[in-house]
Amino acid sequence: MRIDIITVVPEILTSPFEVSILKRAIEKGLVEIHLHNLRDYVTDNYKQIDDYQFGGGAGMVMMIEPIDKCITNLKSQRDYDEVIYMTPDGDKFDQRTANTLSLKGNIIILCGHYKGVDQRVRDHFVTKEISIGDYVLSGGELAAAVVCDSIIRLIPGVLGNETSALTDSFQDDLLAPPVYTRPAEYKGWKVPEILTSGNFPKIESWREDQSYERTKKLRPDLLGEE
Ligand code: ADE
Repeated sequence: MRIDIITVVPEILTSPFEVSILKRAIEKGLVEIHLHNLRDYVTDNYKQIDDYQFGGGAGMVMMIEPIDKCITNLKSQRDYDEVIYMTPDGDKFDQRTANTLSLKGNIIILCGHYKGVDQRVRDHFVTKEISIGDYVLSGGELAAAVVCDSIIRLIPGVLGNETSALTDSFQDDLLAPPVYTRPAEYKGWKVPEILTSGNFPKIESWREDQSYERTKKLRPDLLGEE
């Protein structure tokens, strides 16, 4: 998988890919991340990427030309499955979308700033608009990092234990069951006995029950209840 991220602040997006699981995924050749500084696609001397809104109003708008140049340049080199625009008014991101995106070959992620991009960018280049939640960030970069992290860890071979992504919360619309590790007792607080019983079919069914009960209590909406 190849992800090209278009941004005015590439610095925000360097460290997430330099550590831990994402770093290893890149080193294993399972994903390529390419950051593109939008200012490199500006022809004027002031390196201007935004301008006032037509019709007036507070806040600057990202101009179409540098974005067009960057996307057109990328598309001239390879095909892309999606051009994603990170924006608070996009479709709410969830595990289902993460699963779908993790199966794609090449994607472009465009990070918005200020009041966002000229609407014509959305109309003519963008194929999918994603919000990571109903709150406004100062730019799409951190949201893009969230999306990248959640999809890269799903690519086969990225996680050491293949099954661990499959047992994550939300993977089948249920929250994950509680987990414990040594010691089996700490300050009198005991691990549920079943987990140390060695009876794996029973442990599995306990985990399923716990998942269901936790979901019912904490996120009934996932079960279609409210
Ligand atoms: N850009 C600013 N806020 C955002 C959000 N909540 N999701 C995605 N991109 C954003």
